Amino acid sequence: MADPIDGAGHLLREELLVMRRAKISVIGGGNVGASCALWLASKELGDVVVLDIPKAEGMVKGKMLDLAQCSPIERFDANITGTTDYADTADSDVVIVTAGLPRKPGMSRDDLIQTNVKIVKSVAEQVAAHSPEAVMIVVSNPLDAMVYTAWKASGFATNRIVGQAGCLDVARFRTFIAMELGCSVEDIQALLLGGHGDDMVPLPRYTSVHGIPVTQLLSQDKITACVDRAKAGGGEIVKLMGTSAYYAPASGSVMMAEAIVKDKKRILPCAGYCDSEYGVGGYFVGVPCVLGANGVEKVIEIDFDADEKALMDESISHVKDLVKIVRDTFPELAV
Ligand code: LAC
Repeated sequence: MADPIDGAGHLLREELLVMRRAKISVIGGGNVGASCALWLASKELGDVVVLDIPKAEGMVKGKMLDLAQCSPIERFDANITGTTDYADTADSDVVIVTAGLPRKPGMSRDDLIQTNVKIVKSVAEQVAAHSPEAVMIVVSNPLDAMVYTAWKASGFATNRIVGQAGCLDVARFRTFIAMELGCSVEDIQALLLGGHGDDMVPLPRYTSVHGIPVTQLLSQDKITACVDRAKAGGGEIVKLMGTSAYYAPASGSVMMAEAIVKDKKRILPCAGYCDSEYGVGGYFVGVPCVLGANGVEKVIEIDFDADEKALMDESISHVKDLVKIVRDTFPELAV
């Protein structure tokens, strides 16, 4: 008969061995990627792998070793890996794609398209080969066109490709409203849809402060100022520091990853695939999405008034123009 103490100990070891954390890979170990890793690990959302190109091997391995060494202080358990080898990302549950050039002052997100389409295409092919069951969150710019690129290059079902933009843009909008009101950001609920360009569509009519419509608390002028600042929020930061923002883009991406790995069914503004939804006709644009274990589990359609509809249509048409550039650059991504 087996020794009961040994037996119990053995059982415990087996339980430990079968316990499985989620695995989240981040492609690109620059500022956005490293910030994603920091929050993914510190929130204990899973094991984290950050991949960069061979030229950046020392940088990505060093950053991730540095991050692992915070864990006893910040008290999180996660395996953290810096790598240049896609084999280390194999079988990820979620992959966050941050690879690509960031903006420099004077550039629009659209100016990055020719370079980043090549990068995102090759990344998405590798992700599909190594993590065929993953949900891919795309962060690279110009966002809406890069989500399309990742979709076509990976061959993933549309629910497993989603773009991070709305979470960031709405966070900016909420921040500016809270600054204006002098109240907690936590109490601001807001909605912002459309593409991740300067023609994104913040929706004051769907914005409230702990349930109180923002229109009852701020003048139209002040609301318009918050809307305009949110729309130009990325550019404001590029102008200040000479490169793209990274804390808030990473934070938005990690919020989405959390909804997916915990199957939370959060309703978040994301670049989700819309066909009949909003009459978009087969493009990824910022819309309210239900995010859970299966990625985008549903797109929620809301009512627009005439002005909101006109703004949304304009933003969608801009997304279509960008996707046309992708299709013209890589005809194989057009089919
Ligand atoms: C921004 C970039 C990341 O909006 O698109 O800051």
